Amino acid sequence: MVTRKIKVVVNGAYGKMGRTAIQGILQDQEVKLVGAVGKTRGIGLDAGEVAGSTGTGVIIEDDLNACLQRVKPQVVVDFTNPTVVKDNIRKILHYGAHAVVGTTGLTSDDIPLLLEWSQGAGKNILVAPNFALGAVLMLELARKAARFFPAVEIIEAHNPLKADAPSGTAINTAEIIRSVQSTDNIVGDAPCLEKISGVRGGELGGIRIHSVRLPGFVAHQQIIFGGLGQTLTLRHDSISRESFIPGILLGIKKIGEIPGVTYGFDKLLDL
Ligand SMILES: NC(=O)c1ccc[n+]([C@@H]2O[C@H](COP(=O)([O-])OP(=O)(O)OC[C@H]3O[C@@H](n4cnc5c(N)ncnc54)[C@H](OP(=O)(O)O)[C@@H]3O)[C@@H](O)[C@H]2O)c1
Repeated sequence: MVTRKIKVVVNGAYGKMGRTAIQGILQDQEVKLVGAVGKTRGIGLDAGEVAGSTGTGVIIEDDLNACLQRVKPQVVVDFTNPTVVKDNIRKILHYGAHAVVGTTGLTSDDIPLLLEWSQGAGKNILVAPNFALGAVLMLELARKAARFFPAVEIIEAHNPLKADAPSGTAINTAEIIRSVQSTDNIVGDAPCLEKISGVRGGELGGIRIHSVRLPGFVAHQQIIFGGLGQTLTLRHDSISRESFIPGILLGIKKIGEIPGVTYGFDKLLDL
């Protein structure tokens, strides 16, 4: 039986994650790269060669609208920049494709607007701040631990070129923990004089988040729960961007079957 390959465009094709996504797509029999879009870097180059593979004939171009109109993909994978991601999603839906969004910067507050766009276009959106299986499992374990440990802080570490802080995963983690913690159980800090401003980290819903930016890191996170006389640390390390490929491919293959907006790669797994 001949099955049609899913036609995919990668937006942000010259970026670190765009190239990783292209690598994965080129190795998979069920999906086909039909377009690649960037902003300034890599325009005019073969997307396969840029991703460290062989030539594909797919040339990186700089106009998402024109690309989508011409190649009519079923799915667009977006790994661009938090400042443009919403605009990109709107364009992707407008041209009749489903959006698999790895770009961070979106939070659960954005879901109602995305849902409105998705329903209007009849196309689906997957927003996945982290496509690594280990990271998703870490969040699931955090969901369990948060019921029993009222105090928690998050430390995430990425390379210094990352455009935003904290990471989308850290935001997602804080939101998940907050959703299962009972409010009268939360242990806050005693009033503390910060001798250096910000030294206690940023805060989301009362949860401290600390962002480390150093060369050598890919994507790392620790969730440290504190309890009476004990701590519990959950830790995940993406030591190579290849860790994201299976999740991206699963997102591309499943997005057509999951109507509306799906927030979090975990929703695609039978956890
Ligand atoms: N979901 C996950 O599992 C996961 C994992 C890692 C990273 N991320 C997120 O993915 C995003 C990209 O990360 P990265 O490490 O690949 O960053 P990067 O290396 O800086 O790449 C970003 C790419 O997006 C392009 N770009 C920027 N603005 C654009 C625009 N307006 N239109 C089209 N393309 C645009 C850039 O083009 P130029 O090269 O021309 O500037 C670049 O190629 C970030 O939000 C990051 O946090 C997600």
